[in-house]
Amino acid sequence: MADALLAARGLVVSYGAGRLGRSGSAPVILHGVDIAIGKGETVGIVGESGCGKTTLGRALLGLVTPSAGTVVFDGRNITALDERARRPLRRRMQMIFQDPMSSLNPRRTIGQILTEPILLHGLAANRTAAISLVYGVLDRVGLLRHTIERYSFELSGGQRQRVGIARAVVLRPDFVLADEIVSGLDVSTQAQVLRLLKELTSEMHLALAFISHDLSVIRSICHRVVVMRDGGIVEQGSCGDVFSAPQSAYTRMLIDAIPLPTVDSGWLGRSTAETATTI
Ligand SMILES: Nc1ncnc2c1ncn2[C@@H]1O[C@H](COP(=O)(O)OP(=O)(O)O)[C@@H](O)[C@H]1O
Ligand SMILES: [Mg+2]
Repeated sequence: MADALLAARGLVVSYGAGRLGRSGSAPVILHGVDIAIGKGETVGIVGESGCGKTTLGRALLGLVTPSAGTVVFDGRNITALDERARRPLRRRMQMIFQDPMSSLNPRRTIGQILTEPILLHGLAANRTAAISLVYGVLDRVGLLRHTIERYSFELSGGQRQRVGIARAVVLRPDFVLADEIVSGLDVSTQAQVLRLLKELTSEMHLALAFISHDLSVIRSICHRVVVMRDGGIVEQGSCGDVFSAPQSAYTRMLIDAIPLPTVDSGWLGRSTAETATTI
């Protein structure tokens, strides 16, 4: 891709390989992965549990050091940056976590959780200015302003994930990694969160790597899809191409496994309550 914002070439990751490059008997988790994500593009990364999706995401963000290969962000090789050199990139590369319950500190109010990174990265001159940015982002993600006084455990799953999204986008990043962020939500809340994310990526021209084991979710939000299996990429292409004419038998199997939509009374009961509290 000519104008890739984030590109990895030949990424090899093996946990426990050691900083001196001693791979020993550590199993290789990623086997030479190539991936490129354009400015403003949403790329889905799909595959069964354990195939290496999270490891790939962590390697793109520099949270795990590859034993071979390169990661280039905005034209700069960022593969082996130390923490100090990486710090200015932290604002530009954000992450939304799978489980907001464990990623949002239960001892801090949502207001504290959202203002801290704003002040840390110098996006507001003082606390009052930071809070005004927080109000703006709460409005945008569909949360009431008094949410700043709440703690994460007082919120619904959908509301917590909106806070996770707010925390990422309030820093005006260029790239966001979202790892299984709707997996714990019921179907109607999933749809609301996905719609919000789609609007935000378009408004902010955000590049998004969207990890999911669920192809139907990928299809609803992504421009392109990368299919992983056993630490490698088996297929990638536009969602239209991959869904209508998958090239690998493995991708076809994943597509065939998408359940047909079903509605049951339990789902309706849950979604009504959730909808009322998240809008
Ligand atoms: N911190 C770690 N240390 C050792 N092995 C790990 C670690 N994290 C993940 N793995 C292993 O790497 C493989 C890929 O895991 P992961 O990237 O989490 O896959 P996915 O996100 O697709 O489910 C799995 O076999 C997992 O057990
Ligand atoms: Mg994972």
